[in-house]
Amino acid sequence: MRTIGVTKLRDWDFTRREGGIDDAAAWAEDVWEHVTVPHDWAIHGEFHRENDLQVTRVTEDGDVVAHDHTGRTGGLPHFGRAWYRRRLDIPASDAGKSFILAFDGVMSHSTVYVNGKSVGGRPFGYASFEIDATDAIRPGGENVVHVLVDNPPCSSRWYPGAGIYREARLLALAPAHFETFGVWVRSDDFDPAAGTATLTIEAHVAAPFRDGLMLEAVLDDAGREIARVSVPDAHLAMPLSGLEPWSPDNPRLYGLSVRLIRDGAVLDEERLRYGFRTIVFDPDKGMSLNGAPLRMQGVCQHHDLGPVGSAFLPAAARRQLLQLKSIGCNAIRTAHNPPAPQLLDLCDELGFLVMDEAFDEWRLGKMDNGYHVDFDAWHGRDLADFVRRDRNHACVAFWSIGNEIREIFAADGWKIARELVDICHAVDPTRKVTAGMNISERFIGNGFVSVLDLAGYNYQANRYAQYKAIHPQIPAFGSETASTTSARGYYDFPVVPSDGFRENGLCSSYDLEHPAWATTPEEEFAGQDACPWLMGEFVWTGHDYMGEPTPYKNLWPSHSSYFGIFDLCGIRKDRAWLYEARWSRNPVVHILPHWTWPGRDGETTPVHVYTNAAEVELFVNGRSLGRRSPVFCRCRWDDVAYEPGEVVAVGYDAAGAEWGRDVKKTAGAPFALRLELDRDRLDADPDDLAFATVSVVDVDGNLCPTAADEIAFEVTGAGRLEAVANGDPRCLTPFGSPRLAAFNGMAVAVVRASGERGAIRVTARATGLRPAEVCLSV
Ligand code: GAL
Repeated sequence: MRTIGVTKLRDWDFTRREGGIDDAAAWAEDVWEHVTVPHDWAIHGEFHRENDLQVTRVTEDGDVVAHDHTGRTGGLPHFGRAWYRRRLDIPASDAGKSFILAFDGVMSHSTVYVNGKSVGGRPFGYASFEIDATDAIRPGGENVVHVLVDNPPCSSRWYPGAGIYREARLLALAPAHFETFGVWVRSDDFDPAAGTATLTIEAHVAAPFRDGLMLEAVLDDAGREIARVSVPDAHLAMPLSGLEPWSPDNPRLYGLSVRLIRDGAVLDEERLRYGFRTIVFDPDKGMSLNGAPLRMQGVCQHHDLGPVGSAFLPAAARRQLLQLKSIGCNAIRTAHNPPAPQLLDLCDELGFLVMDEAFDEWRLGKMDNGYHVDFDAWHGRDLADFVRRDRNHACVAFWSIGNEIREIFAADGWKIARELVDICHAVDPTRKVTAGMNISERFIGNGFVSVLDLAGYNYQANRYAQYKAIHPQIPAFGSETASTTSARGYYDFPVVPSDGFRENGLCSSYDLEHPAWATTPEEEFAGQDACPWLMGEFVWTGHDYMGEPTPYKNLWPSHSSYFGIFDLCGIRKDRAWLYEARWSRNPVVHILPHWTWPGRDGETTPVHVYTNAAEVELFVNGRSLGRRSPVFCRCRWDDVAYEPGEVVAVGYDAAGAEWGRDVKKTAGAPFALRLELDRDRLDADPDDLAFATVSVVDVDGNLCPTAADEIAFEVTGAGRLEAVANGDPRCLTPFGSPRLAAFNGMAVAVVRASGERGAIRVTARATGLRPAEVCLSV
């Protein structure tokens, strides 16, 4: 993060009016509305089948002919052009400075104008970029920045969001300043056992290194200075001892300031939080971190934050990461594009390894207007900038040059792969490079895998050993696994494996349903366990995301995914406990389904228990159905006849002591609402968020597991209601609505701080139910 001469550009004017820059410069004030950046112009829009209807053939999904795809990008109005405008008062005293406009991401095809003159822009919506606007800025008065954004139709396979959806900044710097992503920090000789390292820093500076220019680095531990080195050069080395290593379990970070100084004045400063760690990839032993073996228990994440959309609000991302941490997840794959830079800050801080991914398309397109259109002109710059931007992060474990790139199947696809691998190595010789590969018949033997450092296999649970025999020297992992589908709290009978398709647009939560190319979680666990040398997996996906409502590719109104371990609003689905049982040492005993089945008396209602206990005993209304041992963390009683009352599962450890238990009771009629907050204190920062989960409960506080009562939310005091969501992939209520029906008894309200100190009161009401209220302090 730069600290000198930085103005965060938060307030902008916005319009969807069509026109060129001359029109935009002349439009009357009432054309514009005030918005705050990060801004996603589509997320509060109306869902509509026609918004993103794609008539296309998805070969990866086995489509033989083109057909309608509905909701494929979330069903929201994110296409077309829009204008942003921002006035900048630049004082006359700033004359002689360099003026840089920095954007962490603009979706997409941006053109930036300063005082009517085009100064640059970026087609790739996921790229962070800086524009030197010095020649166009006039110090001593008002300057106007316009940004034109253009989202072509048929350009994404998921919800991309729209607009200036990540942070934007103005930097007013001395002519001698760090270039874009120009500070590179590394510690190649870090010895985790001895705690020693040489921190080396290489600075790219927009000025020759002379006339008293000094590079200085200061390392601190929670503000306490540990070391300081200054040199009259762009390279600096700092010998260090007493260091503690960074790891997912103990994400130890140090503060680091890198400064450009002349005559005692700090001209530019980059401040970061730096972690020391070593990662070794071994084809036979797997992966090790700081000398200890580590298996990646990872998830793939798209960049949308559910009801908050693609607008990168760190509080929403932090909540997702904490939820993933709670189930023992230790790695994130940024499917399938560069993330917001702050996501990597959070992964450093909270302890996640990151498979940092660049592209979903190269020259051969998946979408008519996808990245392939810009690939030739931009890929070199986009990839190099991305690696340069992210290479200082402890969390970044390796680079991915692409996901299921169609060139995998081309005879000479390896040539582009090699070019991209070479770019990564040139910019960052310290990290390995991979790609996520699917449909093995076509990539095995064509040379593609051989140009990679690490082999990422998508949905190949049963073939890892076969590939190892072909590429014994390349460390491998499951870059995309499972793709199990479910809708939170929905169960269907009989319980049989299937592709999940049914007319009601829901997938059953027994976690046995998946599309043809995918597997259950357990099939992947078996594949992983059969290959101890495998480096782990990235489950598709941690959270449900907007778009790609497989298997309901053309069954509107389905418009968000069913793949998540958590639903779109961040509520656990059943398989969160399955992964927690597998990935963590927390004592897990979790019963599914719920136990409120009016009309099913006497009918076969399988009871499954997700657990990491050695044995589980199941009781129905006090009668034992015996003890069972889990197979890949699942115990099954498939022949239980439903009777109202209660089911209890008691887990035992290997010594026979109680390990944990779960109870599911038949709920009575809906009686009240219950509200629970993820945090009870917010910062007086207008981007800070809290999430309030509302449940419909009976008189005893049991969740009413099929309740669909309409809930009205009210937020008063030092905050406002930002969004609502219920995790139903078919729900057409706009995220900006103050009212929403519960889905299977639950929903979430997102509360946003106003920036003022004080208190926030959140109230939830539903007809005939006792309301609920919670308070937050700001
Ligand atoms: C994969 C693809 C992902 C997603 C997933 C759904 O093949 O890489 O982006 O589409 O399938 O199962």
